[in-house]
Amino acid sequence: MSEIIDVKTQQPASSRLQVMNFLNEIAEKYPRAISFASGRPAERFFDLQSSGEHISHFIQHFAETNRLGVDAAFNRLAQYGRTNGIINSLISRQIANDEKIDCNADQVIVTAGCQEAMDLCLTTLCPDPKDVVLARTPTYIGITGVADLNGIPLVPFECTRPEEFVTELRAATVRAENQGLRPRALYLIPDFDNPTGASLPRETREEIIEFCAAKEIVVLEDNPYGLFRFEEAPIPTMFTLDRRGCVIYLGTYSKTICPALRVGYAILPERLFGKKDRSILLMDQLSQAKSFGTVNTSQLAQAIVGGVLLKENFSLAKIVSRTTQFYRTNRDTLIAALGREFGSNGRKLQWNIPAGGFFLTVTLPFEFTDKEAEICARDYEVLVMPLAFFSLNDSKHRGVRLAFSNTTSEFISEGISRFRRFVNDHQPIPA
Ligand SMILES: Cc1ncc(COP(=O)(O)O)c(C=O)c1O
Repeated sequence: MSEIIDVKTQQPASSRLQVMNFLNEIAEKYPRAISFASGRPAERFFDLQSSGEHISHFIQHFAETNRLGVDAAFNRLAQYGRTNGIINSLISRQIANDEKIDCNADQVIVTAGCQEAMDLCLTTLCPDPKDVVLARTPTYIGITGVADLNGIPLVPFECTRPEEFVTELRAATVRAENQGLRPRALYLIPDFDNPTGASLPRETREEIIEFCAAKEIVVLEDNPYGLFRFEEAPIPTMFTLDRRGCVIYLGTYSKTICPALRVGYAILPERLFGKKDRSILLMDQLSQAKSFGTVNTSQLAQAIVGGVLLKENFSLAKIVSRTTQFYRTNRDTLIAALGREFGSNGRKLQWNIPAGGFFLTVTLPFEFTDKEAEICARDYEVLVMPLAFFSLNDSKHRGVRLAFSNTTSEFISEGISRFRRFVNDHQPIPA
């Protein structure tokens, strides 16, 4: 059964914070290992060389909208800037086009990557020691780290089938409440989840909104991968489906443009739980927290993003169509390699086929922890992420996450062949 992890007293939280160190260390120690570990975007599509052009493009726009000369506009850009950001209206136009999200610029706060948005939201929504965050396990390490570092307990729940999501969510909420805790937020990645690759169907999204709205639990919808869709029609974002004012949408340009920019954002509902003044208050609190954290998101980085958005006529569709094709090919190569090495899906091992994003998971017939990860890297020269690293309790020890975003077909085929040798040697599976 899922348990509440007390970050102040229990081991898992501190060991969770070691995960990235561990992986970086083994990647450095075994440089010949083919890596399925990192969910980095493919570097071949970065175009930092055009940054100057993007900044110039943005400066013209910035000068016009602020009635400044070009030199004054450059000086304004070089100064400390507005805490909530300077490209808010450009972002709202882009997500209207690409995600069908309807919001105005005042609902947007620009952050230093989505990571800062998560940090601001968690610390602002959970000021009291009794305030907790609900999250499905396994989940993204970034949110776990923010919660752990701020001493905010995460209440995990397990759920393998979407139909069970709200039942498990309700049970976790009741468990927390029975311990005198107050669930303030639910963190989730409805599209192409990290680490599982799974997506939530529309009905589940709607049920979650109804449940959370009734309990006044804020849904933190993190969507860094939603634009990288390989098949099927897009499922509306939870923010779009939300009529109750309970969803905060978290976005980033790390995967669509490049991570070095560190530009992300949070979008607040126009009326938080039906009340405009609650939204305004929350935005003020986020803004105040940011003003003593990063002061403002780098205006230079915002100018690059702004320039791209202006150039692309407020849609990243063209940019992501090239990258999506690449990620889809990698996913197909990976699925084919798994089939070739392990037979049909479900016979010896099981894996899911994500409809987009950067990741899939493989379920193994034996435990796979940091020990096995090191053996795999050292003796078989392939690096995979134990699913246990993303676990909020002590489950998920039989799975691995395979990232297929920053690699190539050749590496994928060879990497899976090495992984098959590890699996066979570790526990021979009958033919
Ligand atoms: C689910 C999820 N959220 C957020 C992020 C981080 O985004 P950013 O680079 O904008 O901080 C990542 C990056 O891997 C991610 O996988």
